[in-house]
Amino acid sequence: MSALPSSNKLIEVDDLTVKFNTPDGEITAVNGLGFALERGQTFGIVGESGSGKSQSMLALMGLLASNGRAAGRALFNGQDLLAMPARDLNRIRGNRIAMIFQDPMTSLNPYLTVERQMTEVLELHKGLTRKSALSLAISTLEQVRIPDAPRRIRMYPHEFSGGMRQRIMIAMALLCQPDLLIADEPTTALDVTVQAQTMALLRDLQRDFGTAIILITHDLGVVAGLCDQVMVLYGGRIMEQGSAESIFYRPTHPYTLGLLGAVPKLDHEGERLLAIPGVPPNMAHLPAGCPFNERCTFVMDRCITDRPALRAADNDPLVLRACHREVIEVAQVAQAVLP
Ligand SMILES: Nc1ncnc2c1ncn2[C@@H]1O[C@H](COP(=O)(O)OP(=O)(O)O)[C@@H](O)[C@H]1O
Ligand code: SF4
Ligand SMILES: [Mg+2]
Repeated sequence: MSALPSSNKLIEVDDLTVKFNTPDGEITAVNGLGFALERGQTFGIVGESGSGKSQSMLALMGLLASNGRAAGRALFNGQDLLAMPARDLNRIRGNRIAMIFQDPMTSLNPYLTVERQMTEVLELHKGLTRKSALSLAISTLEQVRIPDAPRRIRMYPHEFSGGMRQRIMIAMALLCQPDLLIADEPTTALDVTVQAQTMALLRDLQRDFGTAIILITHDLGVVAGLCDQVMVLYGGRIMEQGSAESIFYRPTHPYTLGLLGAVPKLDHEGERLLAIPGVPPNMAHLPAGCPFNERCTFVMDRCITDRPALRAADNDPLVLRACHREVIEVAQVAQAVLP
């Protein structure tokens, strides 16, 4: 009889911390993150620039810069990514876990045709012959809706539009049918129409192939349309975490409220309802107490001295939040200002 897996989770991250040595001393860029994702689920990581989104994912993939190190636990199919030898992690990366970035040219080689880049991956990771690699590569391009794929596959990356290059990168990431796709701000550089198409594509792929997705974005609106669960980060810490629906429609954390205010209204594009005052924090000089206290409109004395613990919201045990204010105080304001 085969042993039952101890958990049906695809990935379970616990107390993930990332530190960097810098000339100014050690900084903690990611502090105590935890989340879990089942197969086929979509998880959003949201926060302003510098909040620790990318570094937390690079840490899981073993791709931190040489002055960085990760601690904690990240079980992927039961194996700890943070404790595994580089050789094993290399095998998982690009094969079981794939990552795509804002700029497709970080993953595409400008000097090789798309055909060469795609077939090489399949020959290397899957041991396919050139011929079967080519036909799988073409069908993957068709899945990401590249028209005329058998001809276009012979082109170089620069011969494609920005939106198509993004889809080619997604096709590259999907070639080995990963269990988990990590998408780091994949649409930030694209115009609004292409952004929407790319998100629709990710949604379809997720539905058709059951690929779990971790989507990093600074736009909570994007997350609401795609994700099951969401984590809102500030200063490397979780501010609020829960279902995308509750975080988007019933935010209970002042920072989330600020992020939602920063979502442009559809009818007045670019108009900001309630921008967050101030700038994202310098990680080398995080304030004591709540990391958000210097910018928070709800700040009170206690926020300056005591760091709020992450705990279940009193009105919803499935929402975690780190804030000294009561849910009701924040929710009343949210109701008044959000559309
Ligand atoms: N190699 C490095 N050395 C020192 N600090 C770094 C390094 N890489 C990233 N950081 C810091 O880590 C913090 C989080 O960065 P990051 O995860 O990239 O943010 P984002 O949420 O925009 O993806 C930032 O404050 C950044 O300055
Ligand atoms: S703990 Fe205080 S400063 Fe931090 S988000 Fe809550 S109210 Fe604002
Ligand atoms: Mg980033």
